[in-house]
Amino acid sequence: MRTVLQGGTVVTASDTFAADVWIEGAKIVALTDPSVRAAQGQADTVVDATGKYVIPGGIDAHTHMDLPFGGTTASDDFDTGTVAAAFGGTTTIVDFAIQSKGSSMRAGLDAWHARAEGKAAIDYGFHMIMTEANASALDEMAAMVREGVTSFKMFMAYPGVFLVDDQQIFRAMLRAGELGALITMHAEIGLPIDVLVQRALAAGHTAPVYHALTRPEVAEATGTERAIALAEMAKVPVYMVHLSAQRALERVMEARDRGLPAYAETCPQYLFCSEDDLRGSEGDEWKGAGYVCTPPLRPKHHHDHLWRGLRNYDLQVVATDHCPFCMKDQKELGRGDFSKIPNGMPGVETRLHLLYEGVRDGRISLNRFVEITSTAPAKIFGMYPRKGTVAVGADADLVVWDPEKRFTLGKDTLHMRVDYSPFEGRTVVGAPAAVLSRGEVVVKDDAWVGKHKQGRGQFVRRGTFSL
Ligand code: URP
Ligand code: ZN
Ligand code: ZN
Repeated sequence: MRTVLQGGTVVTASDTFAADVWIEGAKIVALTDPSVRAAQGQADTVVDATGKYVIPGGIDAHTHMDLPFGGTTASDDFDTGTVAAAFGGTTTIVDFAIQSKGSSMRAGLDAWHARAEGKAAIDYGFHMIMTEANASALDEMAAMVREGVTSFKMFMAYPGVFLVDDQQIFRAMLRAGELGALITMHAEIGLPIDVLVQRALAAGHTAPVYHALTRPEVAEATGTERAIALAEMAKVPVYMVHLSAQRALERVMEARDRGLPAYAETCPQYLFCSEDDLRGSEGDEWKGAGYVCTPPLRPKHHHDHLWRGLRNYDLQVVATDHCPFCMKDQKELGRGDFSKIPNGMPGVETRLHLLYEGVRDGRISLNRFVEITSTAPAKIFGMYPRKGTVAVGADADLVVWDPEKRFTLGKDTLHMRVDYSPFEGRTVVGAPAAVLSRGEVVVKDDAWVGKHKQGRGQFVRRGTFSL
């Protein structure tokens, strides 16, 4: 089966050039000069990419499909969430398996494989959330790495649920260094945050905005500094997940200026939403519950710092932290107590749409857009060059991106299984015209055209950290 994407402009993290992209089966086999088309022979499927960009499929390195959290379960599972991802131009996700406290990583990984297998519509990998770094867990890390789970998330936040102490973090970092794995960090210091939460509730402050007011920027900046210090002592790289704030970014910049291998991702919600959204609207402060995520949304002035971080390579990745909960029945659990609002926002489908606004208004270049949404996560998380670029030999995970297509974001136009959109009514310019996953056109003109949906996605065994 031969497919050609014809007449488009190929955009990678480094180059922009006119080429036809030839695909055999699941792989890209040639990039050819469009002016000598006759010599190339026939294709079974021709996708017209005239006037459009051909970019590598998006890689979302931070999703939580089917996550049991906050007394409920994230509303997208691996079926609905990965279909939504594909509609938005994302062709690979890296989700988080969880080692439950008192249980093995093996059990956690098996459970997450069972959640995804037969359901995922696009390719997926796993990070492992470590809730205990005792001797057996440190031992198990080797098996995880052998099986392609080469990154581990640890939390300084959520006492009693995910929080691990510095000694455990440090031991896991040392072990990761031996194995070529990467420790990723949720870097808010959760113990003092919990005290602020209790005090706010005791004072009768129950509205969603108190989620932000009890998780100050300094809690994230301090956690970031501490995580980097531990990684420096262990002589290993470290990756900060969902970085939200100027001061946390400054800690990463200082580390990078000293030559340390500190990496960080941010998320669209920290670039486009703010604490104002958490306040809800006049007479409807509850609306803010839809914007409760952790770390919390920050005041607007943080946006410029994060965009500058992306432009200047201090932030390497934009992932989504996709963790949707419906307003009805789910966010509702926290009415009258902001600390019980399930933490998380929907986002896996809208990442590329939103970030392309940054290209249109000159905040990032087109090549940087490709890099932060695909190439950099592929490199950092051991999937490059199989994924994350448009090159001979790479998986044909591709997006034909129409830079002029207008699309209005909203719960009824998007495919995520959630009853609201944080971006309801926002019209973006620039959207996928077609999406290919391992050589198959799966989305075209906003319709699913793939032969199969559920279960066509494959587990991606990722390589070790090699930057
Ligand atoms: O609000 C969030 N981020 N929910 C998911 C859990 C996490 O910390 O990533
Ligand atoms: Zn987190
Ligand atoms: Zn997360």
